[in-house]
Amino acid sequence: MDALVSIRVQPSCARSLGVSPPQTRFEPSAKPLFRHFPLRSTAIRPAAASTEKLRASVIMEAGGFDYEGRKFKSAEEMWTEEIGKEGDVHKRKEWYRQGLGYWEGVEATTNGVLGGYAHVNDADIKGSEAFLKMLLAECFPGGGRDRDLVALDCGSGIGRVTKNLLIRFFSEVDLLEPVSRFLEAARQSLVPESGTAIENKATNFFCVPLQEFTPDVGRYDVIWIQWCIDHLADDDFVSFFMRAKAGLKPGGLFVLKENIATSGFALDEEDRSITRSDTYFKELFHRCGLHIFKSKDQRGLPEELFAVKMYALTPDAPKRVHNTRAKAQANRPGIIK
Ligand SMILES: C[S@@+](CC[C@H](N)C(=O)[O-])C[C@H]1O[C@@H](n2cnc3c(N)ncnc32)[C@H](O)[C@@H]1O
Repeated sequence: MDALVSIRVQPSCARSLGVSPPQTRFEPSAKPLFRHFPLRSTAIRPAAASTEKLRASVIMEAGGFDYEGRKFKSAEEMWTEEIGKEGDVHKRKEWYRQGLGYWEGVEATTNGVLGGYAHVNDADIKGSEAFLKMLLAECFPGGGRDRDLVALDCGSGIGRVTKNLLIRFFSEVDLLEPVSRFLEAARQSLVPESGTAIENKATNFFCVPLQEFTPDVGRYDVIWIQWCIDHLADDDFVSFFMRAKAGLKPGGLFVLKENIATSGFALDEEDRSITRSDTYFKELFHRCGLHIFKSKDQRGLPEELFAVKMYALTPDAPKRVHNTRAKAQANRPGIIK
């Protein structure tokens, strides 16, 4: 059975799969994944018309904070400080190295990848399942049951989302995760030696970060990105989605599930992540040429946590429905051939 499971390590990943990085820092509940952050409303709302210029200014002018209480006037100011100006390769590398370093010190369990909040797993999966079912019903004939659907689980960690959700709805699921120890844990739980129930559905295991990944053209019906895009700088966010669009089949979708800041952004220096507001995300989607097909708030999470939102995104522009014409046509008698 193992022979059918290919583990593909992209060359950009320094670590090889079977070799775990040094595990010097195991902190089972090191940092809650979701931290309530006292965000004040510093975002400047665009005035009436949403011109390109206005849209661009939303991000530039939305202020934010870090967990030490440091205030940034704008995202631009924060990114210049964190990853430097364009061409400052060293600072950017350092941002990603420290982000990964954080996760390399976390235990490979549900509690580990959920920052000590293992108990939110059920509510999270339930919310995701309802959202996914609705998308499958609306986007794929027969809810996708008559097709061999393929998904990609990005920043998969130990494969929690794949195992609890995606594997039940897709014929094949690929996993992408830069921490080799997490990916190996995912492989072990999804591809058991004896190989029965979920055998061979988890197909490829990519040990690579999102900012270095390019999917095979037209492979995926759904690309699922949960609780990991917060590690990407804005420009890498945009270029990831631009590359990943080519990985979607016609009619395919991205599902992005992420923490949402009340306004502006919250920077976490410890794991090198940024929690963005809904407005901030929408501006980035616009820059990626993506449209929101559906969005939904995740319910049932503890109050102290950030709000969590699910976005279904499509590269296809929404179809214009000419209501009057459609109605007029519907009222016409049908032609009997
Ligand atoms: C909070 S965990 C979420 C894991 C999984 N998505 C889940 O919901 O169970 C964040 C994951 O993002 C991964 N990650 C960190 N930086 C990343 C990057 N640049 N590209 C892709 N994944 C990254 C971490 O290694 C970790 O597995």
